[in-house]
This record gives sequence, structure tokens and C-alpha cells, in this order.
Amino acid sequence: EKDGFDYFMLKEIVEQPKAVADTLLGRVSADGQLTLDEMRLTPAELRSVEKIAIIACGTSYHAGLIAKYAIEHWCRIPCEVEVASEFRYRDPILDQQTLVIAISQSGESMDTLMAVRYAREQRARVLAICNVNGSTIPRESDGVLYTHAGPEVGVAATKTFLTQLAACYLIGLYLAQVRGMKFGDEINAVIAQLATMPEQIEKVLDTVEPVRELAHSLADADTVLFLGRHVGYPVAMEGALKLKELAYMHAEAFAAGELKHGPIALIEDGLPVVVVVPSPKGRSVLHDKIVSNIQEVRARGARTIVIAEEGDESVRPYSDVLIEIPAVPTLLQPIVSTIPMQVFACELALAKGNDVDQPRNLAKSVTVE
Ligand code: F6R
Repeated sequence: EKDGFDYFMLKEIVEQPKAVADTLLGRVSADGQLTLDEMRLTPAELRSVEKIAIIACGTSYHAGLIAKYAIEHWCRIPCEVEVASEFRYRDPILDQQTLVIAISQSGESMDTLMAVRYAREQRARVLAICNVNGSTIPRESDGVLYTHAGPEVGVAATKTFLTQLAACYLIGLYLAQVRGMKFGDEINAVIAQLATMPEQIEKVLDTVEPVRELAHSLADADTVLFLGRHVGYPVAMEGALKLKELAYMHAEAFAAGELKHGPIALIEDGLPVVVVVPSPKGRSVLHDKIVSNIQEVRARGARTIVIAEEGDESVRPYSDVLIEIPAVPTLLQPIVSTIPMQVFACELALAKGNDVDQPRNLAKSVTVE
């Protein structure tokens, strides 16, 4: 039921605080202890992991890209991320010490399933992150961590993406704990912050109104570019994918550092460019670099739509539209910075008169290779 919303997608965006809270429920205790026993992989098995390969498609792949930044930083385990359809057919290097993490909302994507089967044939261990109980991918994996987003009816993934991120963070933090990583203080601080994410998502949802107006003003744009660095880059990719699938518009994401290597030639007067800005605290190098990137595109006529931490005044002079998000640790920022992207794509599609629950040519689960 749509509960008074015109579309399931609008309802599912609003359900995100609960979806993430339910995914963390019973897994993070008040004293920072993580309980992931249900995963069916023992601490001894997790300690023997030497390499991680994350495989997924579409939005789930973007969750995997973000997980790589977190897992490599917290656990110091090399982690590669690949779309399942490419991974399966390139003779990847896998063995018993490889942990393959297969991320699939539906648990039925054929590309991901074929990659899981292949990985198990090569004797890698496979851990699924999935939203549908008892679906094929978790049944064929060694272990599973379910996201508890509840059923997602809209074809475009929204609340399930945020819960996939939560699940990836849980796995990364748990791996760091069981492997006795040295910087325990940082891990504990992040666990505490992760527990507050449902409130932070609530805050974003309370402040996205300007995004709606912005989206309606851009309904006639031909193309929108998205820029990000670090975890903001996969968020930019997710923003571009949402716009393609819902608004049927050309949209493309770039790592902001790559701009000068080619894409900056695309910038012309009035071109909307959405930029995800990392926190000014801590990783200030990254922040300063993206501020220069915003200046570079704006100097060439781009209309800049900047998603930045509240109180980050340094970006205001270069922002045609400034969208503020709460201050959270850099690695967790995608949980909040993705939301304006979802609302933007949804509202732009609605402004064009599209059916956001059933975009043309798309199916909720892709059961062919
Ligand atoms: C995008 C979207 C698709 C899916 C992809 C993977 O909004 O919904 O890109 O993310 O088809 O699906 P799952 O996660 O079910 O394997």
C-alpha cells in the first residue's frame, strides 16, 4: 500500500530511517558490540581472509564501490569491486582465502548468481548481502547478511541501497573487530556514529524541499553531470544512474580529479553539474581539491548544484544551489549524501510526467544474463 503517497518510490524514500534502523537492529549494541552470528561465517574463517572481491550489478554495485573504501581503510584487506557480468567472464583469481561478497537486493539477478556459482566452483567463500529472505543468491552462498528494508516496490532501488550500505559497514567493522585491528578507537567511534544514522537520514529528509524545486526547474535539461571524490564518487554514479532510469536523461558521473583529463571539455554555459563535497574536517586535502573542481566548472559556465556538510561555508560562493547534509564521518557520508540524489531524480522524472515506480524498459529483478 502507498499509505497516501502518489508513488511507492516517494514512500520508500521516506521509509529510509526505519529501513536502516531495522538493518542495524540487534546487530549493534549500546556498548558498541557487533553481533553478526547469523552470517554463518565464523570469526576463524573471517580471520583467514586474504582478499575480498565484491560483485553486484547496478545500484548494488555502487554500494560495493563504497564498501571498498571502508573495508580497505578499516581492515587493510585488499578489496576489488566489479560488476558481476564482467567478473564472471574474465578468469578472476580466486581461492579459499578469497571472500566474495555478492550484493543483491532481490537475490535473483542472474548476472550476480552466475558469478556466485563461478566463485564457489573456484572454492572462494561467498557471503551474500540480500533483502529477500530465502531467495536464490543467499541460498547458494556460504553465508548471508540480510538487509531489513522490507519489500521495495518501486523499480528504482532507494531504501534497499541505504540498507546495503549499512550492511557493508557492519561487515567491514566486524571484520576489523575480529581481526583485532589496531585503531580500535576509530572503529568504536564509527560504530557509535553508525547507530545514529537513522536520525541523520531523518534530518536530510526534513531539508530536501529545495531539491524538489530545483528538479522541477531542470526538467528541460538535456544532460546532467555528477562529480565526486572518494566515497562521493560512487554516490555521484548512483545519482547519475537514478536520473537515467527515472528521468530518461543523459547523466554521467566523473571522479572529480578526472575532469581535467577530458570531461571538462563538456562544460558549457548553463550545464547542471551536481557535486558531492566531502567533509571539511579530517580529510581537508580532499575537500580543498573538490572546491577547486567546483570553481573550475563554474568558471566555464556550469550551473553548480553542491551537496555539502552543513556549516561548510567555503563552498557557498561557488554554489548556484547549495544542499546541506548533516556532518557525519567521511566513510559514512554516502548514507546521507545519496538522499538528495534520489529526491532529485524522482522529482525530475515526475516533472516530466514519468511513472517513477515503473520506468520504461526496466524490471525490478533481472533474471536473464
Ligand atoms: C537501480 C536498480 C538496478 C538494480 C540491479 C541489481 O535502481 O534497481 O540497477 O540495482 O538490477 O539488482 P539486485 O540488487 O536485485 O541484484
